[in-house]
Amino acid sequence: MGYLPCLLSVIILALCCCVDAACSNGKCKLNDECSSNGDCGPGLYCFSCPLGFSGSRCVRSSVTDPFKLINNSLPFNKYAFLTTHNSFAIHGEPSNTGVPRVTITNQEDSVTQQLKNGVRGLMLDTYDFDGDVWLCHSFRGHCHDFTAFEPAIDTLKEIAAFLSANPKEIVTLILDDYVETPKALKKVFTEAGLMKFWFPVMRMTKKGGDWPLVSDMVAKNQRLLVFTSISSKQQSEGIAYQWNYMVENQYGDGGRKAGRCLHRKESSALDDKSRSLVLINYFRTFPLKPITCEDNSGGLIDMLQTCHDAAGNRWANYVAVDYYKVEHFGIFSFLLLILLLLKLKLLDSFMHY
Ligand SMILES: *[C@@H]1O[C@H](CO)[C@@H](O)[C@H](O)[C@H]1NC(C)=O
Repeated sequence: MGYLPCLLSVIILALCCCVDAACSNGKCKLNDECSSNGDCGPGLYCFSCPLGFSGSRCVRSSVTDPFKLINNSLPFNKYAFLTTHNSFAIHGEPSNTGVPRVTITNQEDSVTQQLKNGVRGLMLDTYDFDGDVWLCHSFRGHCHDFTAFEPAIDTLKEIAAFLSANPKEIVTLILDDYVETPKALKKVFTEAGLMKFWFPVMRMTKKGGDWPLVSDMVAKNQRLLVFTSISSKQQSEGIAYQWNYMVENQYGDGGRKAGRCLHRKESSALDDKSRSLVLINYFRTFPLKPITCEDNSGGLIDMLQTCHDAAGNRWANYVAVDYYKVEHFGIFSFLLLILLLLKLKLLDSFMHY
């Protein structure tokens, strides 16, 4: 067993021993049994995972901010960020096209709420639709009124509001980009008021090595990183081509095979250190919320270890999941914390048991 799974199983065991049977009215602590959100203390909500544990328990609804936990004076690539896959495909979001939506969802709360809960990477699928740029799932390669979620501008404005209200935070957008209209993306970013936060492509670290310091990015107000999947847009629109800067494992079911961490075809090999950022996907091709809490716990931890080994001993910078709130025992808080300490090699003293 790698030491990440090992360490986390120790923490989970420690949590399991401490279930306090009788609590209510905001007095329940992490992992206590509960019957409604109101039972749980601040920062927690009442959650059940029928396949993982019996009854309902209070789990964390937010993750620790890495810049507050350590400090923000390290290079950007030294930190790890919780990332939502298809952040825009939100369960229960009303139709914005007048036609009922017939497609899968991947998350359960708004992008604003995701950001407030500590998500710092957003994966968005952008399409030409209805004379504008929309966030959408495709059906046969195109956005349709029954697969569209919302105009991109709405979500981008939520991100602009978050960056304005949180002047020390950095948000990364990873676009699965199908927009063919020239400059349409740049236009919608401009209209959303995001250009003032733009981190310029020319400052991105090209041949491996460390990124600029977070404190420097904050001082310059260059706090929005945007990556596109269309290589020509780096030249034509100044939007970074994702795989020039990042390695990424296979997404969907192909990325969930235990003990294997394969790169997706657009990415160079995971151990290519000329790319300083590491993105690890861990979600099903067809998300199923009831079993996601199992995925987002043990399986994910094992995969992070496997991918660390495959990536030339590099821990993930971005951990991308579906239904990020669906997890065991508030594991993301620990996972992100430990990932960060591992990346900084501050956990070495723990490794000798
Ligand atoms: C920030 O944290 C790192 C890691 O603990 C440490 O090496 C560094 O000295 C700290 N920097 C400041 C300015 O506190």
